[in-house]
Amino acid sequence: MLKVSIMEDAMTATVAPAARIPGALPLPDLYARVSRHVPAIEWPALAPDIEAILRLKRERNAVILAHNYQAPEIFHTVADIVGDSLALAREAVTVDADVIVLAGVHFMAETAKLLNPSKTVLIPDMGAGCSLADSITAEDVRGLRKKYPGVPIVTYVNTSAAVKAESDLCCTSGNAVAVVRSLNAPRVLMIPDEFLAQNVQAEVPDVEILTWAGHCEVHERFTPADIRDVRESYPGVTVIAHPECPPDVVAESDFSGSTAMMMDFVVQKRPSQVVLVTECSMADNIAAQNPDIEFIKPCNMCPHMKRMSLSNIRRSLETLTHEVTVDPALADRARAAVERMLAVRTR
Ligand code: 13P
Ligand code: SF4
Repeated sequence: MLKVSIMEDAMTATVAPAARIPGALPLPDLYARVSRHVPAIEWPALAPDIEAILRLKRERNAVILAHNYQAPEIFHTVADIVGDSLALAREAVTVDADVIVLAGVHFMAETAKLLNPSKTVLIPDMGAGCSLADSITAEDVRGLRKKYPGVPIVTYVNTSAAVKAESDLCCTSGNAVAVVRSLNAPRVLMIPDEFLAQNVQAEVPDVEILTWAGHCEVHERFTPADIRDVRESYPGVTVIAHPECPPDVVAESDFSGSTAMMMDFVVQKRPSQVVLVTECSMADNIAAQNPDIEFIKPCNMCPHMKRMSLSNIRRSLETLTHEVTVDPALADRARAAVERMLAVRTR
C-alpha cells in the first residue's frame, strides 16, 4: 500500500463530523448492532441497563456523548453522539439538552462544561483521568511562560482546565498541524504530549516546536518492533497509528490521525486486514458494522476509558452524579483557549 503523507494529510484534513446515532432502536435491533462483541448469554444482563438509560435520557432531557474508545455496548446502543475529542468538543456546543453525560475521560467532560456553562455535565466515574492530563500543572505552564517569553503555548485538550487557562490555545490530534500553522510563529511550545509534538514537528519543519515530557500510557507502549512483527505475520496488512504513539511507530505505519480519522480511513479505504495501533475498542466499534474487515491485534486498553460502563451511566442519570464543575476563577481563560482552537479552520 502507498505510504500516505501521515500527519500532514490527517491533521489538516476536514475533520469527520461526530456521528449522531439515530434515535433509540428496539432492543433486538440494538443487540444486532453489537452481536459480534457481546455473546448472546451476556445480553440479558446488559439489556435492563440499556432500557433504563434510554428511558432516563428522555426523562432528564439528556444526551450521551461517547468517545470512540468506549466499549461497543455503550458506543452502539446508548450513545447519541460519538467521535474524537475535537468532534465531541464541537458537538458539545450544539446539543439541545439539559444534561450531558460524557462517556469518556474527565478532561472531555470538563471541556464540555467549559463550552456549556449553563448545562449539567456528568461523568459516570470521576476517576476516569488521563496520564497526559496528569503530566503537567498550571504552575508548570507558568514556568514555561517565564522561560520562553513570547513563545505561543499550544496545549493538547488532554489537560485540566487550569492548564488550559494558562495557554494561548488548545489543539487535538485532529487539528494540531493546522493550529500550529495558524500561529505563523517561528517557535511554538506544544504541551504536554512529547510524541504528538514530535509527530507534528515532522510535518511543520519550518517551525521549531518545543515540548514537554508527557506521554499517553496506552500509546507509549507500542514499538516499531510490534509493527514489523505484525507485517511479517500478515503481509499486506494496513497499519494505522494514533499520533500519540512514538514517532518511530508512526514512521512505520501507513496512516496516522485522530481516532475519527483512523475510523474514516478504514471505512473509506476498506483494507481487508488492518491493525489499529491504539486503544482496543476502536477496532471493535468499527468491526461491529464492517464484518468484512479483519482487525489484527496488537492494541492496548485505556484503563481510564474503561471505567465507563452501562451500569455507572445508568446510575449517573438516576442520581445526576458526578457533576463536573470548573473553577469560575479560571473558566473564562480556559474557555477562550478552547474557543480559539475551534475557530482555527481545518481544510
Ligand atoms: P482523539 O482526539 O484522537 O479522539 O484522541 C483522544 C485520546 O485520548 C487518544 O488517546
Ligand atoms: Fe489519556 Fe491515553 Fe487514555 Fe487517551 S488513551 S485518555 S491519552 S491515557
